[in-house]
Amino acid sequence: MKKVSRQDFIFQSGILAAAALLSPIHSYTKEMDQIKVGVIGCGKVSQAYLPHLLKSPAVELVSVCDIVPERVYETAEKHTIPHQYDNIEAMLEGAPFDILVNLTDMQEHGRLNRQALEKGRHVWSEKPLANSYREGRSLLDLARAKGLKLWSAPVVVNSPQFAFMSRTIQDGKLGKIAAAHGHYGHRGPSWSAFFYEKGGGSLPDLGVYNLSTLTGLLGPAKSVIAMTSIVTEQRTTGNKGEIEVEAEDNAMVLMEHANGTLSHVQSGFNYFDPYGHEGTGQNRPTISIWGTKANMSLIGYDWAPFGVELATLDNRETVRYETDAGSYLWEEGASVVSESLYSNSEPIINCEHALHVLEIIEAARESQETGRRISLTSTFPYPLV
Ligand SMILES: NC(=O)c1ccc[n+]([C@@H]2O[C@H](COP(=O)([O-])OP(=O)(O)OC[C@H]3O[C@@H](n4cnc5c(N)ncnc54)[C@H](O)[C@@H]3O)[C@@H](O)[C@H]2O)c1
Repeated sequence: MKKVSRQDFIFQSGILAAAALLSPIHSYTKEMDQIKVGVIGCGKVSQAYLPHLLKSPAVELVSVCDIVPERVYETAEKHTIPHQYDNIEAMLEGAPFDILVNLTDMQEHGRLNRQALEKGRHVWSEKPLANSYREGRSLLDLARAKGLKLWSAPVVVNSPQFAFMSRTIQDGKLGKIAAAHGHYGHRGPSWSAFFYEKGGGSLPDLGVYNLSTLTGLLGPAKSVIAMTSIVTEQRTTGNKGEIEVEAEDNAMVLMEHANGTLSHVQSGFNYFDPYGHEGTGQNRPTISIWGTKANMSLIGYDWAPFGVELATLDNRETVRYETDAGSYLWEEGASVVSESLYSNSEPIINCEHALHVLEIIEAARESQETGRRISLTSTFPYPLV
């Protein structure tokens, strides 16, 4: 069978995507010299990732791994994935693959990402990419030393709505930007305890989306001041029953950006939300930015946006723009970076940005512990779009 060259891929993947609407995808994927993917963590989020990966013409799903063996076998059977493992060591020594997609508990990410990099694998990690900024930085150093790539969720910067907002800001249409706000919360995950254990919390699980969006739009933060708390002290979880909550489930973070711009993010696991965990039907702003010449809001959550509203000095009536998300989906990250490896191109998503957001989360915790304002050291290429 004829293989498709990497250069041709950029052009042909559009045709393949169109053809895939008419015919079974597998008949196309077999013809290509694909990126081999291994997925670790067969829990809830894998149910969104795997179908997206299977649709990508650039991806060959080689293996799945989970420490709960029945999850591995059920997942492998459902998606016809040939190799199954119940520990990362066996996975890394087993059927060869190019990139590890890490969908495990937050506290496991740093350790597993390091093991994969040490064994020469690129890594796509669910957020956060490590348990601390320092650990994350050392992972990126390791990746670079080995000529490997490391990326982390979320992919909010990939949406057309983010691009519209970024271009509007870069074009100066908002004038001087003074203030911005983001919020995201629900009543908390029920299936796994790790969200509430040390190293978990609403900031790395939920606040991370707004922090990525606002730093992506306004530029790196210079300092952070924050308060966090625990509102619900005990939770009943699917895998460990009744537990004591150790990580914050309520957070308020203030960021100082360049030129006097201040922004605020709030996240929590105690927010009643009529739109639920999925945010389906959410039609109100969750991100708002105020400048001297205009204000702009993102409608719906930043991980699943429905449009951008803009009111300006010249046109005071609020107008809704960019109501189509195109092919953007929050679960696309592993497919998008695999496609970038395949076509030897740089995706918009950037590991330095993910590290900056990790430093903000750590600084927010330090600010709560010490009552101090915390200066940040990291930065990232800005603007992203
Ligand atoms: N569930 C969602 O809607 C959602 C959405 C976006 C991002 N995320 C993120 O995805 C990650 C996973 O969340 P989830 O909801 O799927 O959790 P989950 O508990 O449903 O799944 C995690 C899986 O990882 C496995 N695991 C843990 N340690 C492991 C190890 N050392 N080796 C192999 N497998 C291991 C667990 O057995 C479990 O099956 C988290 O970082 C979360 O923040 C979740």
